Amino acid sequence: MKKIEAFIRHEAFEPIRLELLELGFPSLTISEVKGSGRQKGIVETYRGARVTNYLRPKVKLECVVADGDVQAVVDTILRHGRTGAVGDGKVFVLPVEQAYRVRTGESGEDVLQARDGAAFERAPG
Ligand SMILES: Nc1ncnc2c1ncn2[C@@H]1O[C@H](COP(=O)(O)OP(=O)(O)OP(=O)(O)O)[C@@H](O)[C@H]1O
Ligand SMILES: [Mg+2]
Repeated sequence: MKKIEAFIRHEAFEPIRLELLELGFPSLTISEVKGSGRQKGIVETYRGARVTNYLRPKVKLECVVADGDVQAVVDTILRHGRTGAVGDGKVFVLPVEQAYRVRTGESGEDVLQARDGAAFERAPG
């Protein structure tokens, strides 16, 4: 099992989410974060004063998948995330030791996504 952790532009999230859903990866987490990459700060004007912003807003997308699914998910993120301009983001792949579904106590790869077709139309929570 691997966790894919991606820092992407806000605009990229919806097309990525839709394709992941189609491919059978409905389960993910996002957070709104701020970060910096290689570039120096961006100079903006605030109330007439020049202010340098070192942090840019990004969406952090976390998705845990079976090893054999990593490439499909990464490809989806790269394809929809790339504009070609600086700041498109970055994708990391991390090892995951174990996963448990709290409702049933099941564990392992089977609890990660809904690729067996067991996706719920609209699940509470
Ligand atoms: N090594 C890193 N560790 C943790 N977060 C990172 C790292 N690199 C990038 N990020 C996150 O990804 C965001 C986007 O990074 P960014 O795309 O600017 O990377 P970059 O290396 O500067 O590439 P580019 O030259 O295309 O801008 C950052 O704002 C930060 O939130
Ligand atoms: Mg950058």
